[in-house]
Amino acid sequence: MLEVEGLVAGYAGTPILRDISLRLDRGETVGLLGANNAGKTTLINSLSGIVTPMAGRIIFDGRDVTRATPMQRVEMGIIQVPEGRLVFPEMSVRENLLLGGFCDRARPLRPRQMEKVLALFPRLKERLSQPAGTLSGGEQQMLAIGRGLMAEARVLMLDEPSLGLSPLFVQYIFGIVDQLHKDGLTMLLVEQNLNLTLRHAQRCYVLERGHIAVEGAAEVVKNDPRTRQAYLGL
Ligand SMILES: Nc1ncnc2c1ncn2[C@@H]1O[C@H](COP(=O)(O)OP(=O)(O)O)[C@@H](O)[C@H]1O
Ligand SMILES: [Mg+2]
Repeated sequence: MLEVEGLVAGYAGTPILRDISLRLDRGETVGLLGANNAGKTTLINSLSGIVTPMAGRIIFDGRDVTRATPMQRVEMGIIQVPEGRLVFPEMSVRENLLLGGFCDRARPLRPRQMEKVLALFPRLKERLSQPAGTLSGGEQQMLAIGRGLMAEARVLMLDEPSLGLSPLFVQYIFGIVDQLHKDGLTMLLVEQNLNLTLRHAQRCYVLERGHIAVEGAAEVVKNDPRTRQAYLGL
């Protein structure tokens, strides 16, 4: 469904990602692991078009989207749930969700999708008219995921959804990931949390200082000594 070939990307002419190749098959949950500053967010931002690649290709559903704008990618269903959630704090939960579904493809489907999202996250239903800034961190993560789903995501890319959450909320959020997987959604799960991600993804890539150090089935990645090395920066 999504294929990256030889991607080089960075900032102000300085590459951060060097020769990244990866793929997401339809219906898969793929983990993208790596220590802080490994380049995970830069990669996700390259996939969503926020960072412009210096070299390489990004193919989505058979179409070359390397030069597509972020908005064009949203219309195709490439949806990012950003690191740090970035909900709009002054707007209500309902307004945040509606905004998630503002693109042409999603707008007519908003009422039905809103029902689905609220069934998935009953806590959001109870807080629909509350300003998003008054929600707890875990609830804001629910809202950020709900907002992504409102866009009728075909690939949902979650950037560190467990960051800063209490263990209870982390379990809950990963339970949601499992449920979305069962529903057939294709997901890229970007995480520092190694063991948790290995339990919830079918395949993983481990990013180490801008290149892929290890890749394979979760079980293989788990037992590869290079995985832990990548984390320790050895
Ligand atoms: N907007 C930016 N401008 C310049 N350098 C950046 C920017 N964003 C990230 N970087 C640098 O790119 C590297 C990778 O960062 P990032 O992709 O955020 O890693 P991760 O998400 O794995 O923590 C870091 O060295 C970081 O300092
Ligand atoms: Mg990051």
